[in-house]
Amino acid sequence: MHVDDAIRSRKSVRRFLPTPVPVPVVRHILEVSARAPSGNNVQPWRVYAVAGEPKNRLCNAIVQAATTDPDRHQPEYAYYPTQWVEPYLDRRRRCGFGLYASLGIARDDAQARELQMLRNYIFFDAPVGLLVTLDRRLNTGSFMDLGMFIQNIMVAARAQGLHTCAQAAFAWFHKIVREQLPLSEHEILACGIALGHEDPAAPENAFITERAQPDEFAHFAGFGAAR
Ligand SMILES: Cc1cc2nc3c(=O)[nH]c(=O)nc-3n(C[C@H](O)[C@H](O)[C@H](O)COP(=O)(O)O)c2cc1C
Repeated sequence: MHVDDAIRSRKSVRRFLPTPVPVPVVRHILEVSARAPSGNNVQPWRVYAVAGEPKNRLCNAIVQAATTDPDRHQPEYAYYPTQWVEPYLDRRRRCGFGLYASLGIARDDAQARELQMLRNYIFFDAPVGLLVTLDRRLNTGSFMDLGMFIQNIMVAARAQGLHTCAQAAFAWFHKIVREQLPLSEHEILACGIALGHEDPAAPENAFITERAQPDEFAHFAGFGAAR
C-alpha cells in the first residue's frame, strides 16, 4: 500500500466486525509504530492492549461509571479549550452533526446522542482496544511525540487491512483503567484506540470528514510564480 493510500484511507471507524485480530498482528503494528520520531528519541509512550475478557471487564466498568456517575471523572490533561473560537467551533459542529446525521440521529435527540457517545466505551465493538499513556514527568513537547506514535498506529493498521478510531473519551476514565491495568502513577492516560475490521455496512463508517486545503492553512514563500 502506498503511504498516501494508507493515510487517505484512514478514517475514524465507529462500528467494527467481531472478527478477531491475532496478537502477532497487534505486536507488528506496535513495532512498526514505535519507529515514530521523538525528541531525543525518548519514546515517551506506553500501550496497554486488551482483548477478550479483560477488554469486556474494562468496558463494563467504564460504561457503568459513565452511565451512573460521569461528573466524578475528569481527564488528567486538557484536550479541548473551555472557550471555542472560529474556525474550530464550526468544524467541531460539522463533525458532530455529520456523524449524527449519518446515524439518523436528530440534533435534539439527546438520549440517542448519549447512547452513541457511550459506544466509545465498548471500543465501538472493536475486538482490540489500545490504551496509550504518556509519562507525566516529561513536558508538553512529548505530546507531539505521542501524536506521531498514535498516527503511526492508525496508518500501520491500514497496511494490515485494519481500521481504527482514536478515542480521547477514555482519558476521562483513567481511574477505572488504573483499577484494571498496571499503569504506574507516572503515566497519563492520553487516549484509547479501537482496532479491528471495519463493518462496511454501518452508515456511521460512511461518514467522511472534510479538510481545509493547503492554500487555506499554509503560507508559501520563495517558490516563484508557479503553483
Ligand atoms: C487524539 C484523538 C482523540 C479522539 N477522540 C475521539 C473520541 O473519543 N471519540 C470519537 O468518536 N472520535 C474521536 N476522535 C476522532 C475524531 O473525531 C476524528 O479524527 C475527526 O473527526 C476526523 O475524522 P477522521 O478521523 O474520520 O478523519 C479522536 C481523534 C483524535 C486524533
